[in-house]
Amino acid sequence: NWEMGDFVKLEIARIRELVGDRALVLGACSGGVDSTVGAALMREAIGDRFKAILIDNGCMRLNECEQVKETLGHHLGIDLTVVDAGELFLSRLAGVTDPEKKRKIIGSTFIDLFEKEAIRIEQEAENTPNSGKVEWFLQGTLYPDVIESLSFRGPSATIKTHHNVGGLPERMMNGQGLRLIEPLRLLFKDEVREIGRQLGIHESLVNRHPFPGPGIAIRILGDVTKERVEIARKADHIFITMIKEAGLYDQISQAFAGLDTSRSVGVFGDQRVWGYIIILRAVRTKDFMSAEVFNFDNEFLGKVSRAICNQVDGVSRVVYDLTSKPPGTIELE
Ligand code: XMP
Repeated sequence: NWEMGDFVKLEIARIRELVGDRALVLGACSGGVDSTVGAALMREAIGDRFKAILIDNGCMRLNECEQVKETLGHHLGIDLTVVDAGELFLSRLAGVTDPEKKRKIIGSTFIDLFEKEAIRIEQEAENTPNSGKVEWFLQGTLYPDVIESLSFRGPSATIKTHHNVGGLPERMMNGQGLRLIEPLRLLFKDEVREIGRQLGIHESLVNRHPFPGPGIAIRILGDVTKERVEIARKADHIFITMIKEAGLYDQISQAFAGLDTSRSVGVFGDQRVWGYIIILRAVRTKDFMSAEVFNFDNEFLGKVSRAICNQVDGVSRVVYDLTSKPPGTIELE
């Protein structure tokens, strides 16, 4: 029967003990609550020996990288390095439609870049008081990720490869002798949020909807192109902004706009056009293992639909997904 307050103290002590007083720890920070809480714990435990990076995979949301850098710097004193790798990810994803392949490509490209960063960081730290080897890699893995990736293995295979469980660290761990540090491995999302509050992390960050590592790439049903990412990104920004303006953000666990790449006919002025279909998704859930659809009123959805069709070129239709989980998943693929 442990208290959350004890968790922070115990975990910081455990991290110090594990990492010792020379090693460097590399952590990928996405701006989500999990990686932010993980980073805050590391920062608290080992100060500047924690090195935070964000790899821009070209599939992040509008202005997201700049915002994450600014927030981590401002609130946690963490100097986030943003690695701009959008072109590389998009070139590796070209023509790929299978969602598991997309996840694998993105996961292994992340590893390539983490490896490069680890080397760069060690070189940079040489001849400074913090010189040392990058020996640890921080992951914001939560308990549900652990169960979901373990319990569905078998002949019918993993339901989905969570890139932050399995896959990603193994090659790095073997190749570089990196060890994995997962301070949140035994926690559920609501517990992570509680700990975030205790650590003084701003409420807007603590309550942020989760965003998957592969980002918009797995919210495009079909192959990923720059043009499609931009369309989905703009539509998503409009939807989320309108949700916030309506005061609904904190009542929803996760919301986003995805893109169906089949074309639907629309009429603009006196022209018939074939545009993409935007799929709006919003769910309520406690643990992300099951979820129910959020009930907007139709007037609100109508406004969102009009805003997206008017403001985003290339979209001719907007639909709202009414599928709960199960049988649906939260993401579209
Ligand atoms: P699903 O779609 O499995 O989503 O119902 C459950 C939660 O997991 C997130 N999700 C992912 N997160 N990499 C991630 O980091 C992934 O490949 C991935 N797939 C799903 C999803 O956004 C939701 O919060």
